[in-house]
This record gives sequence, structure tokens and C-alpha cells, in this order.
Amino acid sequence: NRLRGILSLEDFEAAARRVLPRPIFGYVSGGCETDASLHGNRAAFGEYGFVTRVLQGVAQRTQATSLLGHSWSAPFGIAPMGMCALSAYRGDIVLARAAAAANIPMLCSGTGLIALEEVRQANRDAWFQAYVPGEPQRIEALIERVARAGYGTLVITAGTAVSGNRENHVRVGFSSPLRPSAALAWQGLTHPRWLVGTALRTLLRHGMPHFENSQATRGAPILARHAVRDFGARDHLGWEHLRLIRTLWKGRLVVKGIMNADDARLARDCGAEGIIVSNHGGRQLDGAVSPLRVLPAVVEAVPDTPVMMDGGIRRGNDVLKAIALGAGFVFVGRPFIYAAAVAGEAGVRHAIATLQQEIHRNMALLGITRLEQVRQGRVVPGENTAI
Ligand code: FNR
Repeated sequence: NRLRGILSLEDFEAAARRVLPRPIFGYVSGGCETDASLHGNRAAFGEYGFVTRVLQGVAQRTQATSLLGHSWSAPFGIAPMGMCALSAYRGDIVLARAAAAANIPMLCSGTGLIALEEVRQANRDAWFQAYVPGEPQRIEALIERVARAGYGTLVITAGTAVSGNRENHVRVGFSSPLRPSAALAWQGLTHPRWLVGTALRTLLRHGMPHFENSQATRGAPILARHAVRDFGARDHLGWEHLRLIRTLWKGRLVVKGIMNADDARLARDCGAEGIIVSNHGGRQLDGAVSPLRVLPAVVEAVPDTPVMMDGGIRRGNDVLKAIALGAGFVFVGRPFIYAAAVAGEAGVRHAIATLQQEIHRNMALLGITRLEQVRQGRVVPGENTAI
């Protein structure tokens, strides 16, 4: 059984490292430059500790959480991750199905290798994440497509004016698209479970995967000699582009990648109905502070807007700390890809259940029955710095 011995989300990482070819594992696991933000995201959780209460009668505790018009079974969801069909057979569908079964939100990535329409078929409550295309006609085309597919919530990822300096990708031999080489073939041959279960299975059943969801790269194959055109220039984008999107998109609008109070207010004033505090899992600006650190200031700036966060969440306790600091909801990235790589949908279900169980158990140990009670002085700074 592939899940034997997997007791926590972190265990999936070691297991996935064995299953995945080095370029693909490196693509998922890496940060950028010195990985300072990647590690900082985790370390931030260690700067807080819990104050427990006892004999509180906690038998009736629940972690159900309402967010953007839906009652979810947990306070966490699956962050958008590009190209996850490289790590697991039909990775986006695997994530979508597991999330639907558990009633948690799943964000379909704008750089997926599975068409957004198929993901939405697999999970009617999925959200779609988009990078803003550089040109207005492309923005219109994308929004029309996402609406036609039936998505109710659109997440716009900001903070990606240019791509971060992912030296790690070069070091491990990852590129987008992947370039055929002897080294890549060797990596495939020495990871037979991935070769047969993901690569060959995909090729035989669906042919060569292509980028499906970004307007600029759509149709480009994942394996090719030449670089695909990037997403088009994005470094000219400003708040007026978000305003344009707001006029075109009739559903719920969320902005991801906000890291300070001023931008949070601007996003809200442009019509965003939710904000995800995120430094992209430490993959964009190395040295960017951790989302957990800026979370309280963002929450204070937009008190009537749901503020979510992601980055470094690996334990139920991390979820509880984020909620204590004001998060209305959190997202988890890498562990769910690892789980899909290790055991497909069963793996992702196991990861979701593990995190839920940790939250459930530790709510009892904290002495709370509802998640918002963790905000009543139950988390204090300056403890557990060993994470
Ligand atoms: C990402 N992330 C990301 N974000 C986004 O808005 N669109 C995307 O397509 C991607 N792609 C992507 C691929 C991979 C492999 C990773 C690891 C991350 C960022 C992601 O949504 C999220 O912000 C972080 O991954 C959260 O941090 P943790 O939980 O991975 O530490």
C-alpha cells in the first residue's frame, strides 16, 4: 500500500521525491534564488505558540467554514498549481475529484495541461485561477471561456509581473516546455512508476499534453525543442486591468498575491470579493516576507472582505495559527501534488483527511469547538521557534 507510513503531509514529499523524475520534483519543490522565502514561509509558523484551555466540553466541534457563498467541510483548499499533470496522471482531474469528494475548494490553474472545461466537469465547485493576459482582447476571450465553462469564482493571480528567478529549474533540468534529451530519457527510465503510470499512460490515452488554459501558450506541447512564447508581456499591467476584468466578469472575483494593506484596499476598491495573501510559495521574489507575517495588517485594512492565505501550510496547527491571525480560509499547494504523484486520487484524499484530522484533534486540545474561537487570545507570538 502506497500510503502506508504516510502519517503527515510532509511524509508525501519524501515519497514523491522517490517517485518523480528529478526535473519534475525540482519544478514542484523549488523556490527561487536562495529559497529564503520558501523556508521563511514555514519558519513563520514557528514564531507562534498556542495557549490551551481545558475542560471546555469540546465534543461538538466543527471545522466547517463558509466562504464566498459555499459551506466547505474544512477551512483549507487546494492552491492552483500549473502543469500538475506532469506529476500525476491527469493531475488536475485527480485534485478536482478529491476536492469534490471532500467538499473543499480546488483552484484550477491557468497554466494547466488539462482544459479548464474538463476540470470544471470533474468538480462543479472548482474555482479558476488566471494570470491576466497582457492584451485586452485576450482578457475578454479568457473571461468568456471561463464563464462559458461554468466557473463561479475567478481568481486573478497578481505579483507575477515577470517570472521569479528559478535557478533551481536550470539546475535540475526543468524547462517549460521540457526539452527532449538523453538526461531526461534517463530520468524517465530510472523512475519507472512515473514513466508507466503517468507519462506512457498519458501518451497512450491522450497523446502529447499541451498547454490548455493560458491564452498565450494554448496549444503548445509540453515536450518540444523550443521555448513556447511566454504568457506575453505582463509587466505593464496595472489596477486598470483589474477594473477591466471586474466589468467583464459577472461571477465572484478574488485577487491572489496581495502582500500589504494598500494593495488589499486597492483590490477591494476594484471590486475584488476576496483576497489571497500569498508570495507564491516563495517562487517569485526571494526574500519576500512570509504571508503569515503580513496577514494581520491585510485583515485590518479590509475588514469586510474575506482574506485567505497560502504558503508553507503543512499541519493542522498551521491552519489554526493562520485563522488566529485573521485568515478566513487557507490554501495548501505542494503537498497535494506530492500526494497525487504518490497515490493519485486516494493519495490526495488521504492528504485532505490527514489535515482535517489534525485540525479536529488539536481543536479539542486547544479547547475550542468553533474555529473562530482560536482568535480569542489562543495564539501568542514567540514560541516553538524550532519549526
Ligand atoms: C504554484 N503556484 C501557482 N500559483 C498560481 O496562482 N498559479 C499557478 O499556476 C501556480 N503554479 C504553481 C506550480 C507549482 C508547482 C507550485 C508549487 C506553486 C503557487 C501556489 O498556488 C501557492 O501559492 C503556493 O504553492 C503555496 O505554497 P505551498 O503550500 O506550496 O507552500
